[in-house]
Amino acid sequence: MKLENPFPEYGYFGSEYFCDREQETQRMIEALQNGSNVTLIAPRRIGKTGLIHHVFERMKVTDKRAQCFYVDVFPTKTFSQMVQFVANAVMGKLDTPSQSIKRKLNNFIAALRPTMSPDPITGAPTFSFAVEPENARETLTQVFEYMKESGQMCYLAIDEFQQVSNYNEIGADSFIRSIIQFVPNVHIIFSGSQQHLLSDMFMSPKHPFFNSSQIMTIKEIDVEKYGTFANNFFKKQGREMSQDVFTYLYNMVDGQTWYVQKILNRLYRTPKEELTEKTVNNAVGIILGEQEINYQSSYNLLTENQALLLTAIAREGVVNAPTSLDFIMRYRLPAPSSVKLALKSLQDKEFVFQTEKGEYIVYDRFFGMWLKRLE
Ligand SMILES: Nc1ncnc2c1ncn2[C@@H]1O[C@H](COP(=O)(O)OP(=O)(O)O)[C@@H](O)[C@H]1O
Ligand SMILES: [Mg+2]
Repeated sequence: MKLENPFPEYGYFGSEYFCDREQETQRMIEALQNGSNVTLIAPRRIGKTGLIHHVFERMKVTDKRAQCFYVDVFPTKTFSQMVQFVANAVMGKLDTPSQSIKRKLNNFIAALRPTMSPDPITGAPTFSFAVEPENARETLTQVFEYMKESGQMCYLAIDEFQQVSNYNEIGADSFIRSIIQFVPNVHIIFSGSQQHLLSDMFMSPKHPFFNSSQIMTIKEIDVEKYGTFANNFFKKQGREMSQDVFTYLYNMVDGQTWYVQKILNRLYRTPKEELTEKTVNNAVGIILGEQEINYQSSYNLLTENQALLLTAIAREGVVNAPTSLDFIMRYRLPAPSSVKLALKSLQDKEFVFQTEKGEYIVYDRFFGMWLKRLE
């Protein structure tokens, strides 16, 4: 697929538009092909979803029969919705001539009475159906049996898997674990961004997923490689982005992939402009302007203490000890106990992110810049 703008802000469009991640890709493929499940944990917008699609694309090249399924369960609020999403992604997609698998599919269809409609583009039949809560476990079992029966290697990515910990259904996670154990030809990628929830699920001995999969994380794309990658596209426009200017851009947003892409995308639209720190600043200014209404309304929804604390974190950039007297005095914040409360709710709402080093930052880098300008 050829893109007008080589710096997409959403989605995966093939390796041409995908920078590096060679080692991560290799590592994930190795784990999956050696029979492990993989748990990918990293902050939002760093490139987890992209990596999964990249891995799938690679695997399909080496093994044409590999079956790869991707499901994003972010919108799901219950276990049965999750099952529905997974079933929709998998059922009917394995084209194998086996009779028993056809029977499995037919039974499944008979039980759920899905509505079938042609895909608007390919014309292939697609199913959609509702999974009732009382059938959820049975349905998920059938989905896995369907894959098992096919005898093909199946790779299933469940993205935003931390949603599972919000479901009311008791034991949803142990149930999932119990069925995947018995399906040797299916390997799963669990992926998600809420470190504490996921690490609890996969690293605590109390939890059913303990030791059941290989944990992986990804960091920022290497600045040199990313700079070269970006410059190659600008060269085609007859321009040049020096490594210095790229590094300036990259550091502005802590090398977080989505933000880097967003700025590059914007710069690519003005092919006559020289690529300097000044034009980078302008591009960022335009992006912040476009988001102004959103930022303003997010800000208005905060309590006074939350707004004070968030703005203080934005101005400081990185905060080690938000309840320290020094920090509180400097930004005229309320008492430590109130700061603690406000911090907790800012973290829950994902306005504030705690890094691996334990430091606090504004999660959305552009929102952080916007707040910093607020006086
Ligand atoms: N290796 C990469 N090279 C170029 N763009 C990337 C790369 N990885 C991710 N992106 C882009 O960055 C943005 C965020 O990536 P995404 O995979 O959605 O992050 P996450 O799933 O971690 O939230 C998307 O626009 C995606 O196209
Ligand atoms: Mg994602």
